[in-house]
Amino acid sequence: MRKIWTLLTIVGFLAGSMFFAGTAFSADGAKLYKKCQGCHSKDGKGKPKKQTPDFTNADWQSRHSLDKIKKVIAEGMKKTETKSGKAMPGFSKRMSAEEIDTVAKYVKAFSK
Ligand code: HEC
Repeated sequence: MRKIWTLLTIVGFLAGSMFFAGTAFSADGAKLYKKCQGCHSKDGKGKPKKQTPDFTNADWQSRHSLDKIKKVIAEGMKKTETKSGKAMPGFSKRMSAEEIDTVAKYVKAFSK
């Protein structure tokens, strides 16, 4: 009888952790990217008016590692640091490190 309970506990634990892993993963990039698309466009190609970069461009991607993208999202960029002279807001106060990681991977996934 005890064995059954042990087994059930293990099965329950596994199912539970799989459920949590699933929801953590689906704290999904597309949803987080909604905070960005006003300036970066939904398809990642950037907005001419805002002079934001084209995330689908292979050359742009090759110059921007995941770490670099994460850093920009967390810290933002000052007007003096951008080509356009427009500031990029930092998100470290509005997103957790995990969310920044997820949305950075979403940006990376625009590459063709
Ligand atoms: C208020 C407008 C605005 C919002 C919101 C915004 N950005 Fe930006 N972002 C910019 C501007 C402006 C630049 C700089 C463009 C340039 O280089 O001149 C930029 C640059 C970037 C860059 C490129 C940095 C580089 O080195 O070329 C990345 C990556 C980026 N943003 C990601 C994001 C992500 C992800 C979000 C959402 C979490 C986001 N941005 C939200 C305006 C915005």
